[in-house]
Amino acid sequence: MTIRVMTSDPTGTAAWAQLSELAGSVGGSTIRSLCSVDRDWLRISAASIFMDASRQRVNSDVVKSLMALASECGVEVLRDQMFSGVHINSTEDRAVLHTALRAPLSAGVHDGDVDVSQSVSEVLHRMAQFSGAVRQGEILGASGLKFSHVINIGIGGSDLGPAMAYQALAPFCDPDIQMQFVSNVDPADIHQALIGLDPASTLFIVASKTFTTAETMTNAGVARDWLVSELGEGAVGSHFVALSTNASAVAEFGVTEDFTFGFWDWVGGRYSMDSAIGLSTMIAIGPAAFFEMLEGFRAMDVHFQSAPAEVNLPIVMGLLAVWNRNFLGIETTAVLPYSHVLARFPAYLQQLTMESNGKSVRRDGSGVTYATGAIVWGEPGTNGQHSFYQLLHQGTSTVAVDEIIIATSEYPDQIQQDMLVANALAQASVLSMGRTLDEVVEAGTPVPLALHKVMPGNRPTTVLMAQRLDPFTLGSLIALYEHSVFVQGAIWGINSFDQWGVELGKIVALGILDEIETGRSADETLDAPTRASIKQYLKLK
Ligand code: F6P
Repeated sequence: MTIRVMTSDPTGTAAWAQLSELAGSVGGSTIRSLCSVDRDWLRISAASIFMDASRQRVNSDVVKSLMALASECGVEVLRDQMFSGVHINSTEDRAVLHTALRAPLSAGVHDGDVDVSQSVSEVLHRMAQFSGAVRQGEILGASGLKFSHVINIGIGGSDLGPAMAYQALAPFCDPDIQMQFVSNVDPADIHQALIGLDPASTLFIVASKTFTTAETMTNAGVARDWLVSELGEGAVGSHFVALSTNASAVAEFGVTEDFTFGFWDWVGGRYSMDSAIGLSTMIAIGPAAFFEMLEGFRAMDVHFQSAPAEVNLPIVMGLLAVWNRNFLGIETTAVLPYSHVLARFPAYLQQLTMESNGKSVRRDGSGVTYATGAIVWGEPGTNGQHSFYQLLHQGTSTVAVDEIIIATSEYPDQIQQDMLVANALAQASVLSMGRTLDEVVEAGTPVPLALHKVMPGNRPTTVLMAQRLDPFTLGSLIALYEHSVFVQGAIWGINSFDQWGVELGKIVALGILDEIETGRSADETLDAPTRASIKQYLKLK
């Protein structure tokens, strides 16, 4: 199939020129002045998510021009190509079909001649049977014990989503099965995870799309040795599960076919938590709740595919991100969940957003002449308030903010929950509206101290709200960000689905490891500072 893209250089569009002009006028005005009238039209909802973007530094002209930009850049055309299996991941010649992971069998999604929906349904069915049996104690360890501990060994997309979801959905998890997530090649990670565990009741899930990732395979090897030293080689087949596209490497490791769950090259690692990579999530929350999560993803997918652009949540959110990045020059976005169980959500988003859109070459290979993906970071509120919010409020860098508010806690204390939400709304207000010198003086602080209490405000702030953080909402929230990332990449004309930037480091690390272990200078091209650091390391170790 050929890829039809309107343009891959957004700066050549009429809308880009209009937006550049608007950046001078609207971009220079304050959110406070823009909000002097209520801006209900900047409140949009989809699936179970309500977005209030009224605290963004935009007016209706900006939004209209952003819509025109989306149209000139072919965002909806590219979206439809993605959903229908066109190989829009051009550098790897792959379809991008994570949306098929949550589409019903009847959707009949194809990658070429292959019926993707059929394969997805088969794997989901096997996952449901397996996780149900582990939860019920029908699948047991080699010595007949029920699994009380599950360790997911993976990294990047094979870790961040499942680890985030386990915490986010803690109130829905089976308390009799403890999950741990091991990702770092630092020996501390796996060895700390193993402390106090009984191999007879421990199940390992080796999650790796490629089954070659050094960190994962090293940690899996340590886990395997630990298990074998206690239970013998024969126990491997009962205690190791593999989630991978690489069936032969999985078999070589000793994982049986029944314990192997496959997925496909059209699922990017950072888009894979609802594929077989989600097996730990399914064991933790149960198959029914996992299917509810898929429904949440699906609800946002359907909305993204069908809602008109002006009320299309991911399109609007993605376009606002482009406005902030390219026209207001804002380099970073803080994601601040006012939900303790979403503590790992910013880390999850870092991979989703920065591995997808941290690119400076367009799809056609030409270099970009404008900014692309923002730096994303964050911590749960209110903890962040007592740490880095000072810079958010009064620092010299403007940071765009996404606040995530969950109205109902799964935990009992309503007063604490009200306090949490009051803090979130207070921060959104102060970040966007600020405090003038007059207001500070009027409130009783004389100059010169008053000068230190002025808040410039004007920090573009989006508030996302949901009633409850249940599996459905988590799915919708993730899909919202996935598609917002897609929209941004489509505008920038980049391929959001490859990650060449992380490959070189892996290769160089192999050469350095060889040098450390053998003492031979294998790589003649290695730079002098690195060579000196190797020497220093060898002296100290
Ligand atoms: O290093 C980046 C990356 O390729 C990610 O994109 C991916 O999620 C991660 O490594 C893990 O890869 P794998 O699942 O193949 O072990």
